[in-house]
Amino acid sequence: MGLRSPLDRKTGARRRSHQNPRHDTKADSMAFGHLHEAPLMAKYLVTGGAGFIGSHLVSALHARGDSVVILDDFSTGSRANASSLPPSVVLMEGSITDPSVCGRATEGVDYVLHQAALPSVPRSIEDPIATNLVNVTGTLNMLIAARDAGVVRFVFASSSSVYGETRELPKTEAMPCTPCTPYAITKLAAEQYCQAFHGLYGLETICLRYFNVFGPRQDPDSPYAAAIPIFLRLLHAGKPPVFFGDGSQSRDFTYVANIVRANLAACSAPREATGGVYNCACGNRVSVREAAEALQRLLGTSITPVTMPERPGDIRHSHADITKARAVLGYEPETSFEEGLAETVEWYKSA
Ligand SMILES: NC(=O)c1ccc[n+]([C@@H]2O[C@H](COP(=O)([O-])OP(=O)(O)OC[C@H]3O[C@@H](n4cnc5c(N)ncnc54)[C@H](O)[C@@H]3O)[C@@H](O)[C@H]2O)c1
Repeated sequence: MGLRSPLDRKTGARRRSHQNPRHDTKADSMAFGHLHEAPLMAKYLVTGGAGFIGSHLVSALHARGDSVVILDDFSTGSRANASSLPPSVVLMEGSITDPSVCGRATEGVDYVLHQAALPSVPRSIEDPIATNLVNVTGTLNMLIAARDAGVVRFVFASSSSVYGETRELPKTEAMPCTPCTPYAITKLAAEQYCQAFHGLYGLETICLRYFNVFGPRQDPDSPYAAAIPIFLRLLHAGKPPVFFGDGSQSRDFTYVANIVRANLAACSAPREATGGVYNCACGNRVSVREAAEALQRLLGTSITPVTMPERPGDIRHSHADITKARAVLGYEPETSFEEGLAETVEWYKSA
C-alpha cells in the first residue's frame, strides 16, 4: 500500500493529485522548446520569486497561463523584478523563517518552486547562523506548510556546492557529498529534509542541484555577486576582470532558461522521479578565464585580467553529469553557454 497524504490523515480531505493534469504542450514548446507535458493553469508558489532565478520562473509560468504567487522578503531580491511582473501575479512580502507566513503562502497551491535562500558562499562564511536560519529552518517551514496544505509537488533549488571537495569529474548524483562551507551544508541539509518529507509524509519532492547559473537580471552590484555578472559590469565599464587564482578554475555555467526548463520538467515528471536529486547544468566545463574571454569577444573589449589570491571555500572545478535529469525528468539544456552569454550581454547593454 502506498503512503497516504498527510491531509488524508489529518483532515480526511482528498489531496490534489498530480495525476490527470490538464495539458498545454503547445504553449510549453513555444516558450521552452521540447518539454514534458505540463499541467495547465495550476497554482504555483515561487519562494524567492523577486530574485534572479525566481523571477524567470515567475515569468515563464505566467506566460503559459499559470496562476503564480511569490513569497519574498527582498533580502537579496529586487523590487524592480517584482514591479515589472504582471498584476495578476500575487506578491506576498514576508519571510520563510516565519511558519505562519509559509502557511498562508501555500494555501490552495499545487506546486511550490522553493528558491528563497541566502545564496552566497562568502556570506555564509561570514554569518553561518543567518544562512542556516533561512536555508535550513526556512526550508523546513516551507516543507511543513506544503505538507499541511496538500501541495502536489515541492521542487527545491539545491546547489552543486553540496559535492564540495569531491575531486572526481563529472559529478554524478551517486557520489558522496563533502560540503565544505556553511552554504553547501545548508543546501545538503535542506535536500535531506526534502527526502525525509517524501519518505515520511508522501510529499512529492524533487531537488535540483543548480550549477553556476547566469543570465539577465542577475545582480552585478551585490557584494556577493557571481563571476559572470561581475565580469560584465567591469568590462562594460572598461575595467579589467578579476580572477581569484589564475583563472583556470572551471564551472558548468548554466543559462537561466535551462534552469527554468528543469523546474518545469520536475513539476511534470512521473511520480517515480520524486524523492530524488538531479544535477541541473549544461554538462560542460568552461574556465573562468574562458568565460571572461568570451565576454570580451561579445563586448568588443581586450582588457588584461587582474589576479587575486584564491578565496576560502572556492571549489577548483565543477562539471555536472546530467544523464539522470535527462533520463528521468526529460530535462534538456537547450541553450548553450555561448547563446546564453550573448543573450545576457544584450540584456545588460539594454538595461
Ligand atoms: N545563482 C546560482 O548560480 C545558484 C546556484 C545554485 C543554487 N542556487 C539557488 O537558487 C536559488 C535562487 O538563487 P538566485 O541566484 O536567484 O538568488 P537571489 O538572491 O537572486 O534570489 C533569492 C531570493 O530569495 C529571497 N529570500 C531570501 N531570504 C528570504 C526569506 N527569508 N524569505 C523569503 N524570501 C527570501 C531573496 O529576497 C531573493 O529574492 C537559491 O536557493 C540559491 O541558493 C543558485
